[in-house]
Amino acid sequence: MSSAPGLRPELLAPKELISSSAIAARLKELAAEIEAAFPEGSELAFIAAAYGGMVFASDLMRLIRRHMTFDMVFARSYQGTRSSGEILSEIKLRHGLKGRNALLVDDILDTGRTLSKLSSELLALEPASLKTCVLLDKPSRRAVGVEADFVGFTVPDEFVVGYGLDCDGYCRNLPYIGTIPS
Ligand code: IMP
Ligand code: MG
Repeated sequence: MSSAPGLRPELLAPKELISSSAIAARLKELAAEIEAAFPEGSELAFIAAAYGGMVFASDLMRLIRRHMTFDMVFARSYQGTRSSGEILSEIKLRHGLKGRNALLVDDILDTGRTLSKLSSELLALEPASLKTCVLLDKPSRRAVGVEADFVGFTVPDEFVVGYGLDCDGYCRNLPYIGTIPS
């Protein structure tokens, strides 16, 4: 458990990069893309990667008109604005994946280590298929060869917060995506 760092001025008003209305508009398009990939009448296992992907996942799931179960998996790697490189994951699903079509949803694809680790752990549970969706993609930072099937926005190599993304636990509740100096 980390202790509260106290009020940090740079975390109080991050500079807006993507507005909440732009996010809402893009989510509608993403939901349509996802519906096209999961045929009408099918069911899916919707899996959110917490904590970062939680806000995005909860808005997105309500736009997808398919029968679905919901699960959360947990992963963490960041300390402040730097990735530790080591991913700690926790996968305890309430709903089985074997033979089902699954969609893993996370906030951002950065080095790719998190999505790659979570995907391989979920694939070990033998779903019929596994697709991945991220709100943000920072391709310039990729360290492992992984891409997401659905991407909301491509962002520059800046540390972003808000709409679920944090810096040391703060800023997840901002309704927009903003940047802070790293
Ligand atoms: P990756 O393993 O390097 O791809 O990092 C993915 C995870 O790191 C994401 O799920 C986020 O939780 C976190 N992360 C990566 N970049 C940022 C950022 O710019 N802001 C906040 N969190 C980030
Ligand atoms: Mg994350």
